[in-house]
Amino acid sequence: NNHLNLSGKNILITAGPTREAIDPVRYLTNHSSGKMGYALAEAAVRYGASVTLISGPTSLDKPSGVNLIKVTNAQEMLDAVLQELSNSDLLIKAAAVADYRPKKVAEHKIKKHDDSLTIELQKNTDILTEVSKHRSAKQIIVGFAAESENLLVNAKKKLQTKKLDFIIANDISKSNSGFDVDYNQVIICNKDGSIKELPKLHKKQLAVEILKEITNS
Ligand code: PMT
Repeated sequence: NNHLNLSGKNILITAGPTREAIDPVRYLTNHSSGKMGYALAEAAVRYGASVTLISGPTSLDKPSGVNLIKVTNAQEMLDAVLQELSNSDLLIKAAAVADYRPKKVAEHKIKKHDDSLTIELQKNTDILTEVSKHRSAKQIIVGFAAESENLLVNAKKKLQTKKLDFIIANDISKSNSGFDVDYNQVIICNKDGSIKELPKLHKKQLAVEILKEITNS
């Protein structure tokens, strides 16, 4: 349908990977390109929303009309999300945030010595769990769940523990879908228990379908 109208809505979207420093030249990251989150931001602007996009490092251009906040690591993304949260009607967390960071960031470039090297990791704060402590009931909070097994069971677990309104379950074992490609196939899970399975779509088209579903328009 053509009824998607987001005018007057403030939408906050996160996109891309985070980089967790190991030393001054190295980091831990993942394959997120930012395409899914940027497509959501572009679509939301096109349908009239006022959009803030918090992005980890990507090679994508700033979508026009979007307020872009660039961050590098998970802590910076957390700070930016909490800063913007109270001004948002809707939050969509498409970013692939690192679950762990190196416990210590080496001050100097780590030298090559032994055959094996151990880097100890420390869990990052879960941004959506923090959001659930600060959100208001009328805000809509949407997470993604990137899963390579037990898609719906794991996604619904995240929906509950992170106290979300929707989770978008992303089967990343499918070919040409998910990380770093133009297409994605998802199942949208509502906290009321209903689900909507979508076919594999271009992320630009999928973004519109996701916005329709979560705003019920
Ligand atoms: O960027 P693309 O190349 O276009 O790829 C898109 C995508 C596959 C990255 C995207 O569609 C997607 O699935 N994003 C979520 C990836 C992810 O990290 O999922 P997760 O199951 O590990 O995390 C679940 C949710 O918790 C996510 O909404 C995530 O943003 C959030 N999270 C995770 C860790 C953390 N410390 N804080 C969080 O809030």
